Amino acid sequence: MATPPIIAGNWKMNLLLESSTKLISDLKKGGISKSRARVIVIPPATLLSSIADQIKNTGIFLGAQNCHEELKGAFTGEVSAEMLASVGCNYVILGHSERRTLFGETNAQIKAKMSSAIKCGLTPIVCVGENLRQREAGGAMDTVGKQLEECLIDKVSKDNCIIAYEPIWAIGTGQTAEPDDIEEIHSHIRNTLKAKEPNTDGIPILYGGSVKPENASKILVLPDVGGVLVGGASLNPKDFLAIIDKTSGKSE
Ligand code: PGA
Repeated sequence: MATPPIIAGNWKMNLLLESSTKLISDLKKGGISKSRARVIVIPPATLLSSIADQIKNTGIFLGAQNCHEELKGAFTGEVSAEMLASVGCNYVILGHSERRTLFGETNAQIKAKMSSAIKCGLTPIVCVGENLRQREAGGAMDTVGKQLEECLIDKVSKDNCIIAYEPIWAIGTGQTAEPDDIEEIHSHIRNTLKAKEPNTDGIPILYGGSVKPENASKILVLPDVGGVLVGGASLNPKDFLAIIDKTSGKSE
């Protein structure tokens, strides 16, 4: 069966116990369970257990924002994929541009994290995307192609991988990529995946970067966009529900 459109909300380093409980309660009141989209909420690590309890029987899935490449050991301050799975996570974001640029994460580390996540039953959401300098120099495709080559494990398939294309210049800036640019890169991602491994057809490719209710429809309607990764707007229940609502016309 084809994957339904995916709407993933990356809360980043935001919300506390009380404010996150209110957000989930507002999403439930707003009818999130009735949506045909696959909704994933991705809170900070401190809230995962609590949110796992709150979303039981709602149809909402749980994701984490990062994991360490090892399963356990002397890595003070880190959280492993096994730990995330044990508290109810189904997904984990890997290689978000904030991890790459602010914390120096490399493609090799992301690949190791991917293996570890899959081993623990998590589906990685692997982020790729170019910065403004790379885009202006005409290097967006090469940047994204290299990231895919170096971050992805060999046997990627729709059962163990989601890709998120997030141009860095569009994250948190209010600037969104134009539909033509999104289509061009998504098709490049699709071709790169296929060249790597023949069985990659159904791998969802999400778009991320300043997705809002006002621009979600024109992004979600694009044929090779399998959903969206939403940052800022996922913290506002009205906006997040409005984005989810835009999937009602999207075919699987
Ligand atoms: P944004 O963040 O929607 O706030 O631009 C997207 C992301 O970083 O995943």
